[in-house]
Amino acid sequence: MKILVIGSGGREHAIVWKLAQSRVVDKIYCAPGNAGISDIAECIEVESKNLSSLLDFVKYEWIDLTVVGPEDPLAQGIVDIFQKEGRKIIGPTKAAAQLESSKVFAKDFMKRHKIPSAEYKVFTSYTHAEEYIRLKGVPIVVKADGLAAGKGVFVCQTYEEATDALKLIMKEKIFGSAGDRVIVEQCLQGKEVSYLVFTDGKSIIPMVTSKDHKRLLDNDEGPNTGGMGTFSPNPIITPELEIEILETVIKPTIQGLKQEGIVYKGILYAGLMIVNNKPYVLEFNCRFGDPETQVILPRLETDLVDIFMAIAEQRLNKIEVRWKTDASLCVILASEGYPGKYKKGIPISGLDMIRGLKDITIFHAGTKFNEKGQIVTNGGRVLGITALGKDIKEARQKAYGAIELINFSGMHYRKDIGLNI
Ligand code: AMP
Ligand code: GLY
Repeated sequence: MKILVIGSGGREHAIVWKLAQSRVVDKIYCAPGNAGISDIAECIEVESKNLSSLLDFVKYEWIDLTVVGPEDPLAQGIVDIFQKEGRKIIGPTKAAAQLESSKVFAKDFMKRHKIPSAEYKVFTSYTHAEEYIRLKGVPIVVKADGLAAGKGVFVCQTYEEATDALKLIMKEKIFGSAGDRVIVEQCLQGKEVSYLVFTDGKSIIPMVTSKDHKRLLDNDEGPNTGGMGTFSPNPIITPELEIEILETVIKPTIQGLKQEGIVYKGILYAGLMIVNNKPYVLEFNCRFGDPETQVILPRLETDLVDIFMAIAEQRLNKIEVRWKTDASLCVILASEGYPGKYKKGIPISGLDMIRGLKDITIFHAGTKFNEKGQIVTNGGRVLGITALGKDIKEARQKAYGAIELINFSGMHYRKDIGLNI
């Protein structure tokens, strides 16, 4: 079987790494991939937003299954285009992907289906949004409606922060048309959880739980990033809470979409805030998380191709998905300046030293080969180091031990992943 994975980050490296262990896979391609992915897959120089070239490639190479990593191609309707041509592809359609691509769609949908989420109002006028913020007081959350590469959410502690956020989104248009509409939302205080499931639109199979660390610095300080580290399982999810999440969030979402004529197939990721032991949805993503995938897939025992084929053929209820009992933990090594501006092309040392270490996997994100054949930095988040252990403490020790061996100029990372749980 030939598989194409779309994307170039640590999440895609983890997907390719897991698929490479499948007993039924002959060849994996990745578009565009990165230096680490090129070890186990053939990387092709097609960007993930270039949907027509991707379709041409799939037809020309007789690809049996395509797996989409990032949200943009899903929001652009890659699944609709591929399915029209009779191609198997994992991910939701454009209509279903609105759960992520429009926060206004997601909030209105949740309201219609009584799915717990923060109180909110939608604005197209700066003046009305500002009046509402004055009325509600702080802390308050300001969100751009559309996709903003994880940067469209501002958790504001002061009135000035909130109006600055509004100005950036609505007047300066830093996210372009993604900021045509703005959500002003109640600020929830609690503990965050990433809850991901596989679904074929009829059945749901939960993945193991995880926790992301979105802030740049230790103790959850500094700006929001794409994610600086993860661990799994997330111990705040008790079996009772997991049932509550499935019954009040996940099932009503899949069923609500169905009632509205949308079959959701693929991965559904709910970013939740647990307040007084009850889940509230902060956001939906219509794909695997990054870096959640780097801790979830190393715990998966079942062949990932079996799961993907069951999703594509809507027979997910027929398969059993097994997970390792080990815990896992991933620390992201980032470039100096990330999540702002950063340099690229900085040589990375030590990768060979940790290759082959027991229970350690390196997932490349922003890396490439330079003209001398050295692996160099090529993005803000550069590497994810995942370790497995009997518990989070042991996984943490192993991951941070391996990081000691790696270096690149300006490398920085959080030291507190899995420390205070
Ligand atoms: P999102 O992209 O919507 O998940 O938001 C990014 C981050 O902002 C989340 O992971 C939370 O840490 C925070 N956030 C979003 N919405 C809220 C909210 N209503 N209350 C408190 N924090 C929030
Ligand atoms: N780790 C957050 C995300 O994938 O959106």
